[in-house]
Amino acid sequence: MDNRPIGVFDSGLGGLTAVRALARLMPEEELVYFGDTGRVPYGGRSRETIIRYARQDVAFLSSFQPKAIVVACGTVSTTALEVLRGEWAVPLFGVVEPAARAAARLTRSGKVGLIGTQATIRSGAYERALAVLRPGAQVVARACPLLVPLVENGRYRPGDPVAEAVVAEYLAPIREQEVDTLMLGCTHYPLLKPLIARHMGPQVTLVDVGEQCAQWVAGQLTGRGLRSDREGVGRHRYFVSDDTGDFAALASAFLGEDVGAQVEEIDITAYGS
Ligand code: DGL
Repeated sequence: MDNRPIGVFDSGLGGLTAVRALARLMPEEELVYFGDTGRVPYGGRSRETIIRYARQDVAFLSSFQPKAIVVACGTVSTTALEVLRGEWAVPLFGVVEPAARAAARLTRSGKVGLIGTQATIRSGAYERALAVLRPGAQVVARACPLLVPLVENGRYRPGDPVAEAVVAEYLAPIREQEVDTLMLGCTHYPLLKPLIARHMGPQVTLVDVGEQCAQWVAGQLTGRGLRSDREGVGRHRYFVSDDTGDFAALASAFLGEDVGAQVEEIDITAYGS
């Protein structure tokens, strides 16, 4: 039993897809979220910069003495997770392995699509994980750099003309390859799920990395005896590295409750190296 909080971070809003699932699966747990809204997006940056940002993110969350940290960011999970694990004793959970496990289980044909940020696609991390779990699987991968800015600006709903056009162009070559499963390899993308589902068609199963990661973390914490025995609902706090207003409005809309009073701004550059 362990009543310390769970830390969760992303470059911005995307990690809320994991928070929503974590809150549903483990309502008694206390969650501390950090969204690096002052520096989003991470996906087009160099490996060195992503590692530097991620070190600061982990250092900030570590100040809450968490029992675990969820790296709810595909870009950091694919690019910096092994480095971070070598530097911190706190258990760090990323999104790649749970998503690859789900894709390996769900695909019938072995032909799997993958969309993610430039850094994620460049890393080849999802392909490596899937090759172990489902030898011979073929991955059709595409970087989608415009999707994170669309989501951060609240332009993710079906019918939004810009989002529709961008998603149609990115997904066309993946649809042509007739994949039966599509990994949404960035935690921002599940916000676009209804729109992506419509473009891929009902024959394609979508893997939501935030949801899969949350299920994995719940199982891991239970297995390691680290669940809270708190009665009632755990507190949720949100921290960002830029103005709180836009984040609070979009987060409240996505989570379905007003979280405005729980959002604070911090100076992330004051943490870590
Ligand atoms: N949610 C992050 C991810 O999963 C977005 C990265 C970015 O900021 O570009 O990759």
